[in-house]
Amino acid sequence: MKFKLLFLSFFVLSSSTFFAQQTIDKKVNDLLSKMTLKEKIGQMNQYNGFWNFTGPVPKGGDSKVKYDHLANGWVGSMLNITGVREVREVQKIAVENSRLGIPLIIGFDLIHGYKTVFPIPLAEAASWDLEAIRLSAAMAAKEASAAGINWTFAPMVDITRDARWGRVMEGAGEDPYLGSLVARARVEGFQGKDLGSPFTIAATAKHFAAYGFVEAGKEYNTVDIGLNTLHNIVLPPFKAAADAGIKTFMNSFNDLNGIPATADAYLQRDILKKEWNFDGFVVSDWGSIREMIAHGYAENQKHAGELALLGGSDMDMESSIYIYELEKLIQENKVSEAHIDDAVKRILKVKFELGLIDDPYLYCNEEIEAKIVGSKEIVDATLEVAKKSIVLLKNENEILPLRKKGVKIGLIGPLAADKSSPLGNWRIRADNNTAISVLEGLKNYKGNDLSYTQGVKLINKIPEGFHEEVQINTTDKTGFDEAIALAKKVEVVVMVLGEHGFQSGEGRSRSKIDLPGFQQELLEKVAAVNPNIVLVLMNGRPLVISWAAEHIPAIVEAWQLGTQSGNAIAQVLYGDYNPSGKLPMSFPRSLGQVPVYYNHKSTGRPGTEGEEPGSVFWSHYTDEENSPLYPFGFGLSYTTFEYSAFNLSATEMTKNTSIEASIVVKNTGKVKGKEVVQLYIQDPYASATRPVKELKGFKVIELEAGESQKVTFNLKEKDLAFYNAKQKWEAEPGTFHVFIGTDSKVKQKLTFELK
Ligand code: BGC
Repeated sequence: MKFKLLFLSFFVLSSSTFFAQQTIDKKVNDLLSKMTLKEKIGQMNQYNGFWNFTGPVPKGGDSKVKYDHLANGWVGSMLNITGVREVREVQKIAVENSRLGIPLIIGFDLIHGYKTVFPIPLAEAASWDLEAIRLSAAMAAKEASAAGINWTFAPMVDITRDARWGRVMEGAGEDPYLGSLVARARVEGFQGKDLGSPFTIAATAKHFAAYGFVEAGKEYNTVDIGLNTLHNIVLPPFKAAADAGIKTFMNSFNDLNGIPATADAYLQRDILKKEWNFDGFVVSDWGSIREMIAHGYAENQKHAGELALLGGSDMDMESSIYIYELEKLIQENKVSEAHIDDAVKRILKVKFELGLIDDPYLYCNEEIEAKIVGSKEIVDATLEVAKKSIVLLKNENEILPLRKKGVKIGLIGPLAADKSSPLGNWRIRADNNTAISVLEGLKNYKGNDLSYTQGVKLINKIPEGFHEEVQINTTDKTGFDEAIALAKKVEVVVMVLGEHGFQSGEGRSRSKIDLPGFQQELLEKVAAVNPNIVLVLMNGRPLVISWAAEHIPAIVEAWQLGTQSGNAIAQVLYGDYNPSGKLPMSFPRSLGQVPVYYNHKSTGRPGTEGEEPGSVFWSHYTDEENSPLYPFGFGLSYTTFEYSAFNLSATEMTKNTSIEASIVVKNTGKVKGKEVVQLYIQDPYASATRPVKELKGFKVIELEAGESQKVTFNLKEKDLAFYNAKQKWEAEPGTFHVFIGTDSKVKQKLTFELK
């Protein structure tokens, strides 16, 4: 009976979705049949906010031309228009002046929040807490939708192995499995269960594809990787986003194996739209259609438009090429109207699904905006997520957590009182200096004697009318003496060092990834007079901190944690939150190791256990170890965990059976704590070489002191599949190793056969 009921409700549900979909498809076709060619092309045209829409109408120049396009119905979307008043005004122009009154879809980069800023995505990935990540996206969607936005250019799901690349802060790190789960969580957070609700928005998987593999980590650079890496490492998070029902994709600035991604039909048409059945639309990256001329791939603008459309780009972000060139291309039979119809249908469908066509002002309610933007619910959520994102990298002699009474603490560092850097890079609508600083966070704990000095100064500058940027001073050491004097007087020094918020992000690749400016020198000078240092790092990428790892007893990775940064850090330093984060990206020992990542291949000369001291002819550096300083998956707690009773339920698996891998985890310390239990596999011999380890499962558990728990994972054939030498996703029979442990260095393994 139960089963029948379940089946019936499944049938009712899926048939109602089916009919809803059919209704939307019909509405789309009806609308399309009324559109002129120019109006269709207009839907494929996206402009950046080009003037203050609540101000006077532009009289001349580019703004006037774009205004006329809007009024004619030749613009399908606008980006970077925010706030209900502005959005309503711009929507009105499109809806009330144009012949068919099709509303605009309003896009914005909600990379880690709107006005209330969440931790940077790399930090959130360090939580390994998919609920927290879903919450972060849902809250960002709620806040932004209240301000008129209905489409975000997020999540960025680019896997990356190169910490030099500035945009590592926007992604989930180096692993395709974790990256896929994070991608799904973010899509579910942004889009919710009902896209037609005014509090959910359409999401974008970007940058399709392989942007995270730009050569030498240099922004906008070329990418040359084979199909093996493309399919096994780069594409899985995109596929996960597509499977989660994401509505849009954005392509990328890079060329991939000689073809700019914007015109890559293999990626956008064959894989995305055909193989994955993606029925949403693809937006170009900013100006990326035009940039194909500079790439040396398109001869001129018209040619770029042709290549982009044939390659599968449905919407032109800020190149203004589709709107000027597509009609000509049709006349010349270079592209067909069917190409345009397909793109427009995809765009209209999303607009219907968002509820925009039925109510263009669905997201335009000033009362809701006033109630939701900056509300307590959202601010509280940032604190929750921020705490979970912190990773404890080192804690010798239990210097942490700090005692709450009677301790003289010296707080030192350029970022210690800074309220800007923790907001990270993509804080476009946050007010300047709105993060809680570490100084403010620590001041909430009143039992200790806290003194602060900056040590190295910050410079605040405002580049090109954008946000105030904080920079670490590289010329002035006048704060050193005061910092050293303070360190001499106190029991514990808390040093807050790292990168300023704008040192990572788009266009912020770095060729040196150590502590910028005089911070390293300051750290060494302070350590010379007081070695009792807790180093709090703020940064948007893995840094080279080998000296600190050797000489500083406690290191806390606090990334850029957003609005509630200082409170989250203080709660961790004082033990009110026991840190549970794990690194989503390996930290190199030295820059020369980059790219360094856990799921590397074995090579023909891997050495025994990766090392062959004394030998010359094996895969290694003569002046550096192979292993990273801190591996993927690494992170400590104020308690300790012991793993035992590792077991596999069988030694053989077939296509239709599964194996249960289990282990018992015990909290062997004195306080309650969370552990991320990680399962890796290795396929030691296959038709195409496989990584030495691949994450295939993890569970976050919380244990009281002394408590044990059996943790189980179910492994199936599909978990063993990969893109193999036959260019197919399949599992190949043979031996598999399974590892379960606390990070990617785990050694203990069990073995089974796939028959
Ligand atoms: C970035 C995209 C972003 C777009 C719109 C581009 O420069 O690469 O990630 O969504 O700008 O702001």
